[in-house]
Amino acid sequence: MKKILIANWKMQLDYSGSLALAKKYQQKIKKTKNELIVAPDFASLEMVKNVLKKTTCKLAAQNVAAWEHGAYTGEVSAKTLKQMGVKYVLIGHSERRQYLKEDSKTLRLKIEQALSAGLIPVLCIGENLAAYRAKKTHSVLRKQLEEVLFGMMIDNNKAILIAYEPVWAIGSGKAMSPEEAEANHVFIKGVLASLIGQIPKVLYGGSVNSKNAALFLEWPNVDGLLIGGASLKVDEFSQIANV
Ligand code: PGA
Repeated sequence: MKKILIANWKMQLDYSGSLALAKKYQQKIKKTKNELIVAPDFASLEMVKNVLKKTTCKLAAQNVAAWEHGAYTGEVSAKTLKQMGVKYVLIGHSERRQYLKEDSKTLRLKIEQALSAGLIPVLCIGENLAAYRAKKTHSVLRKQLEEVLFGMMIDNNKAILIAYEPVWAIGSGKAMSPEEAEANHVFIKGVLASLIGQIPKVLYGGSVNSKNAALFLEWPNVDGLLIGGASLKVDEFSQIANV
């Protein structure tokens, strides 16, 4: 079964850095076993699309506006992303929740915008270290999912993905154990089955690298990975792409 791998470049690179990395992807990542999606910053989307146009890599944005159009200086609409050839959009990454203070109400609007423009939203959820230590992971995940998706009618022909990223595992070098991730993915799918009547694919994220990727992907409910740091190194990423 093909798994979904999203390379989240965050704001780690400037424009010329993104160009250089996209060229390396283009040269080194040929036919891959898994489905690859690249998420550069907004300003690099068009350029990355052009560099990767002969590959099978799809494009994701890292964010989208909560409104359709209007006087929202600095925002980028879902329609614009769609027209640019973007297929997926990350929504509610923990860094945006933390630094941009994005709340569930905003994330809900973003999901609605993405879906109505024909983008596939990738809703990011995850518990922080305190909740993890207090064994409150499941109640945090349930709350995050319910607050954003409660009562939302999602047509069966419209997909949504979930990225489960324990906040404490992001960029820390300390990934969750694959067994625990699998159990949490099963929990997330159970919540979603009753919440939106669909069982979306769930990706794991948080300190994934070429050594641990296979250990995650062998679990049936780990449908893919969201990869930050390791996606900036083409050798690392190309190994993960073929796990
Ligand atoms: P990381 O980031 O792979 O560097 O931990 C993952 C993410 O934040 O999406």
